[in-house]
Amino acid sequence: EKRMEEIVRNAVRTFHDFPSPGILFRDITPILKDPNAFRSAIDLFENHLRTHFPNIDVIAGLDSRGFLFGPSLAQRFDIGFVLIRKKGKLPGLTDTISYSLEYGKAELEIQCDAIQPGQKVIIIDDLLATGGTMFAACELLKRRKAEILECLVLIELKSLEGAQKLKPHSVHSLLQYE
Ligand code: PRP
Ligand code: MG
Repeated sequence: EKRMEEIVRNAVRTFHDFPSPGILFRDITPILKDPNAFRSAIDLFENHLRTHFPNIDVIAGLDSRGFLFGPSLAQRFDIGFVLIRKKGKLPGLTDTISYSLEYGKAELEIQCDAIQPGQKVIIIDDLLATGGTMFAACELLKRRKAEILECLVLIELKSLEGAQKLKPHSVHSLLQYE
């Protein structure tokens, strides 16, 4: 496990002042370019879930970078993957929630038939910063009467205290940064 964690950590690049001055951007694209790093990330997610959750019905991923990891993980459990998208991308009956970003607002959407009441759901994204995006996703899933088992992320930016914001839901991250 320590070895796999190192492989994943070494495949995260840091860029200064992107997308705006003062921001340290954690770039996960090298993980996707390296099959060994990608497999390690999915293995670590899988091992964690198998240890803690005997029954998972659905994995829900957040637009857009949650989509890069969620489907591969869902395959490991032979379960479905559901998309929580930015507004205006999903057809049919949808439910929308707005949330605030560092500057301005954004909206997330889910198809109303994506989740059956009582289904046990793991939510996945690449990164937890302020937790605003994940919080909005939790709200959307709760409106669909999902049972949220855990919020799963590859990277957690600890100093922004996103995990506090998500309580009582628990967060699990593969890598932590300050
Ligand atoms: C980034 C990241 C998370 C979110 C974390 O997504 O992928 O989804 O921000 O920030 P928060 O915890 O402060 O809400 P972004 O909105 O940049 O879009 P993308 O995934 O489509 O690139
Ligand atoms: Mg995102």
